[in-house]
Amino acid sequence: MSAKQIVYLNGDFLPIEEARVPVLDRGFIFGDGVYEVVPVYGGRPFRWAQHLARLERSLAKVGIANPLDTAGWTTLVDMLVARHPWPDQFVYMQVTRGVARRDHAFPKGVAPTVFAMTSEFPPVAPALLASGVSAISLPDERWLHCDIKSTSLLGNVMARQKAVEAGAAECVMFRDGFLTEGSASNIWVVRKGTVFGPPRDNLVLEGIRYGLMAELCERAGLPMELRRIVHAEVLAADELLLTSATKEVLAITELDGKPVGSGKPGPIWNRLHEAYQQARTA
Ligand code: PDD
Repeated sequence: MSAKQIVYLNGDFLPIEEARVPVLDRGFIFGDGVYEVVPVYGGRPFRWAQHLARLERSLAKVGIANPLDTAGWTTLVDMLVARHPWPDQFVYMQVTRGVARRDHAFPKGVAPTVFAMTSEFPPVAPALLASGVSAISLPDERWLHCDIKSTSLLGNVMARQKAVEAGAAECVMFRDGFLTEGSASNIWVVRKGTVFGPPRDNLVLEGIRYGLMAELCERAGLPMELRRIVHAEVLAADELLLTSATKEVLAITELDGKPVGSGKPGPIWNRLHEAYQQARTA
């Protein structure tokens, strides 16, 4: 269903074509901002408190004062979602340091730019669920604050493009030989019935699905362990999974041109996918 897309910009709701940001916005000049992507199911933001808490953490880490309180963000997102007919949506929220003469140091007395938009969130394609996706291994060449959900995504953009040029959907990145994450997803290794993920530290964005995976694993009776994971363990995985707000949980069935495990989405993916579907409608 197509619908006119209304966005939020600095207090106003307006058609996306009419939304304008000055060229001196530090988001445009420096990538000086943070963002969130929140799935909305049946009109209700999923894991809202967690997404909002992460936005708060990202803002605090880059020294931007949160321009809205919890009630303000909640009202904004509810109003944005209500203006669109799609039952499932994903909301993108972005805060930049604001508009100022170009100078690297933080400007004083400048109001942050607040932007939010929502898009239709169609169900993840059945073909993707049935076959899984392919990925390539890449060195992680990003900075050392990947825990901040920053709009400075050039490293992620370059990595995703390499994957696409290799005919893959996502990359699986390694720093100093250890698994970090994908260009826009967290990566999970399944080995002998246990789900392994990299530690929550500055080298990965702690996806909201980190906490969710822990819950889903517990519910499904699956052991889960966060620890450093070497490349050889990823190559020897029985199953490889990726998670994100927009992809939910997907099987990676091919890595660097070779099948992962059986080459088909495996039984652990299947259980976690089912549990995810239950959680999102609960
Ligand atoms: N990205 N790691 C990176 C680098 C990401 O960009 C994302 C999500 C994740 C997963 O986080 P979560 O489970 O909270 O979605 C991990 C969003 C979807 C994006 O940039 O569009």
